Amino acid sequence: MHNPIIVALDVPSLEAALKLVEQLAPVVGAFKVGKELFVSAGPEVVRKIRATGAAVFLDLKFHDIPNTVAKAVEAAAQLDVQMLTVHASGGSEMLRAAEQAAQANARKLRRTPPLVLGVTVLTSLDREGLGEIGVEPNVGRQVERLASLAVKCGLRGLVCSPLEIARLRQIIPADVQLVTPGIRPPDAEKDDQKRTLSPKEAIHAGANWLVIGRPICAAEHPRAAAGKILASLQEP
Ligand code: C5P
Repeated sequence: MHNPIIVALDVPSLEAALKLVEQLAPVVGAFKVGKELFVSAGPEVVRKIRATGAAVFLDLKFHDIPNTVAKAVEAAAQLDVQMLTVHASGGSEMLRAAEQAAQANARKLRRTPPLVLGVTVLTSLDREGLGEIGVEPNVGRQVERLASLAVKCGLRGLVCSPLEIARLRQIIPADVQLVTPGIRPPDAEKDDQKRTLSPKEAIHAGANWLVIGRPICAAEHPRAAAGKILASLQEP
């Protein structure tokens, strides 16, 4: 089994991020660099994490005109990230441009292309929030619509909430990778996450990767917390 744990490095500095990477690299599968860390520490943080050999998920959720997104994906591929995100609501042309940029650049650099992940509906948006911006207010239907569009445009992965995994597994090809946050071990605080699954439940439902932040990074012993989650996944 591959190690499906992606640790969300939701910290504001290069130093804090590298400290976590050093502790956790042996027991997790990848590290997620999001907007806070990238904006404060810059691409250097990605280079430094890659230099340790660890995989990087660059979660900047690109959403722009196709040419701009393609250039941003190319820049991310140059940084040698293994996964990155784009908003599926950017439309088919943008999604195709993102996937093509990932593939073309990888060929040029003779590397495996980064997995371009489509983000469907932000979990902060509910029926009312979707109605306000003039889109289909049924959250589930909108998620399915954007997931199908992303896959049709060639994306090989999607980000989804734990409670969407089972439904998406019914409507998308089996080789599409599902990456899910909102994961809480049975004994952990829920923090501000409302609809969670345990690591084991999420994998059983069909997730390929689990994004986990506070249950690991805010634990007294992050490495032990990550090790315990990994062990829970290996139990029969
Ligand atoms: O600390 P926690 O495990 O809740 O962190 C989850 C990570 O996944 C954070 O980086 C958060 O921004 C991200 N995320 C999320 N829910 C979403 C999308 C992303 O929690 N719907």
